[in-house]
Amino acid sequence: MPDMKKIDEIVAQYSETQTPLIYILKDVQKEMGHLSEQVLTEVARKTAIPLSQIYGVATFYSLFTIKEKGKHIVRCCNNAPCYVNGSKEVLEKVKDYLGVETGETTLDKTFTLEFTSCLGLCAVAPVMMVDDQVYGNLTPEKAVAILKDYKMKGSANA
Ligand code: FES
Repeated sequence: MPDMKKIDEIVAQYSETQTPLIYILKDVQKEMGHLSEQVLTEVARKTAIPLSQIYGVATFYSLFTIKEKGKHIVRCCNNAPCYVNGSKEVLEKVKDYLGVETGETTLDKTFTLEFTSCLGLCAVAPVMMVDDQVYGNLTPEKAVAILKDYKMKGSANA
């Protein structure tokens, strides 16, 4: 159950200004993790902005997510330079290891797998990003070893 008081605080912080909705949603997502229907409904109630308008903004911009994501976001680059250097094989192995398709989150909520466009690191293609960390010169085995390391660190901190 999301802490709706946090939404009150965020909306109140912007109440005296003509802050675009996108900034409010950015802060709300940062606090809540994702923009669920329940959260968007509360934002609509607090801002008096129609829910349809809020939903439209939340689903238009790729920086917003209305689905719960995992603790770590795994982004596999699949643009041409990565593709010709084996990103397809890396992605297949990562999907197999995680047991999810692109766009899905593992059952234990540890990883969400996504595509990314070119990260500007084609010289070390194929490339994968986990949260803010970029990994290059990947092989399928290397990619899985990296993810296993994240999983181990996560269970060590649990
Ligand atoms: S195409 Fe993958 S980093 Fe450029």
